[in-house]
Amino acid sequence: MKKKLIGLMAMTALLTSAVLTGCGSSQTPATTAAPATTAAPAATEAKTDAAPATTAAPAAGENIVVGFSQVGAESDWRTANTGSMKSTFTEANGYTLIFDDAQQKQENQLKAVRNFIQQDVDYIVIAPVTETGWDTVLQEAKDAGIPVVIVDRMIDVSDDSLYTAWVGSNFLQEGYDAVAWLEEYLAANNRGDEQINIVTLQGTIGSSAQIGRTNGVEEKMAAHGNWTMLARQTGEFTQAKGQEVMESFLKTYDDIDVVIAENDNMAFGAIDAVKAAGKTCGPDGDVIIISFDAVAAAFDSMIAGDMNVSVECNPLHGPRVAEIIQKLEKGEPVDKIAYVEEGVYPADTAAKIKPERAY
Ligand code: AHR
Repeated sequence: MKKKLIGLMAMTALLTSAVLTGCGSSQTPATTAAPATTAAPAATEAKTDAAPATTAAPAAGENIVVGFSQVGAESDWRTANTGSMKSTFTEANGYTLIFDDAQQKQENQLKAVRNFIQQDVDYIVIAPVTETGWDTVLQEAKDAGIPVVIVDRMIDVSDDSLYTAWVGSNFLQEGYDAVAWLEEYLAANNRGDEQINIVTLQGTIGSSAQIGRTNGVEEKMAAHGNWTMLARQTGEFTQAKGQEVMESFLKTYDDIDVVIAENDNMAFGAIDAVKAAGKTCGPDGDVIIISFDAVAAAFDSMIAGDMNVSVECNPLHGPRVAEIIQKLEKGEPVDKIAYVEEGVYPADTAAKIKPERAY
């Protein structure tokens, strides 16, 4: 009974967007635009990332059953995200969490979602590997009356009613922020008119994080006739693959000025490759390293002088998803699309900001 009621409420979820900080949300003008094309305000100020658990435990024996299909364990970011989900959806908080690690394969996610449907869970939460390929399985969830919450990356479906709500990052904006930082950095170092050669280590091809960051950088760098993108290749968001791809870039190109790594772990691999090639990187080095995520190890890397900047991608989604579920439980409307507010952290701020960081 409860599930059918929630399914109905899911249909009436508000088609609005929001920018979330921690667990709170603030309304922005209503829009149903896909997140990859919607600008969110850039936030560059330091902030505390602690995200309090918001769930009130229901009466004993009435746990809310949540099936969560996670991308994998490819990065420090993902580890923090899994930790946030697991520490939120606890028995003590009134949940039974069924966690599935898809090992970066969408086919595993489809199987997991079908298992969740068979187990008749109360909610399905998906952090999708890639954007496309979800219509059929989400129609099955909808037919079963199970609300679906999408978290982190977005999905590209023909019918938006196939999911109830999405919360995650504005990856396109992150790409814009990376270029804005590079523009300022080059100008401040009197290199604004220099020929700048760039290589990009892309994330998993077809994931929102890759699509948004790649497109954001491409769009904004078009204004710079003196910037050249020498090569782009996926490093699949892992340190090992990031290092391998960077090694091959270094063999092919002897004048790389900037590495854009679409996550911190690939940046760590790239830094190792640069050093192994006898070059230096970071603010005082030969190669500028731009990264995304801003995990704790990225701050260490900046403090060590290896990385120049990390554009934040906030992984602490557990309390945000719980807030959505709690609202649905109470029959309250939820934002269809909610962006998390994120910052940009250059090396010269790293030592000061690191102690405030929660991941
Ligand atoms: O979707 C978020 C991205 O996925 C993070 O940038 C990356 O580290 C993770 O693998």
